[in-house]
Amino acid sequence: MNIYIDSASPEQIRTADRRVRLAGVTTNPSIVAETDRRYRDVVEHAAAITDGPVFAQVLAEDADGMVREARGYQEWADHVIAKIPATRAGFEALGRLRADGVPAGATVIFTVEQAVVAAENDATFVAPYVGRIDDSGDDGVATTRRIQSIFDAQGFETEVLAASIRNTTQATALYEAGIDAITMSPSVLDAHVDSPETAESVAGFASAWGDRDPPLSE
Ligand code: G3P
Repeated sequence: MNIYIDSASPEQIRTADRRVRLAGVTTNPSIVAETDRRYRDVVEHAAAITDGPVFAQVLAEDADGMVREARGYQEWADHVIAKIPATRAGFEALGRLRADGVPAGATVIFTVEQAVVAAENDATFVAPYVGRIDDSGDDGVATTRRIQSIFDAQGFETEVLAASIRNTTQATALYEAGIDAITMSPSVLDAHVDSPETAESVAGFASAWGDRDPPLSE
């Protein structure tokens, strides 16, 4: 399974990379906008930290513009891959990029059907928006499980990259379902790592050891 960090902050990306074997970095216009840095700078900085893919979303809303941006992003670093929103224009752009052999993934996936059309366009990944699917009144985990099971049944190579993960309950349900990949915010990664009971137990060990010499002292 691949774990990505959903962040535009070099510090957060580095911290995540130290804590877990990071598959790569996902970004989107909202989190890049929060940084007040150029999109290109954010993506290049992330690409310097990780060898894995750095996903950068196109901003254009028409197919010509999306194709142009996806090609332009490739110039930023070898491992930058464009994220194309699953709109009508987006699917047209994906089809054109496929024909030209330019790798690209499909993002803002809300339905199983969108994911299937993206996979048929050789998208490198599809990103179902689990939390936002829940917000819309549907079931984000169930939708993502269905996408994964269809991809497995059909032998699609497209990676199922669950996004918009709000909590560890969603994440662990997806792990149980055998999801290919997940991208999570630094706070959800923190929630994977932190346990008050672990902290309390570790404090208990320190207190039991008291002021004895540390194990590596002379
Ligand atoms: O990767 C997508 C993610 O950043 C969206 O998350 O919580 O805004 O739905 P959220």
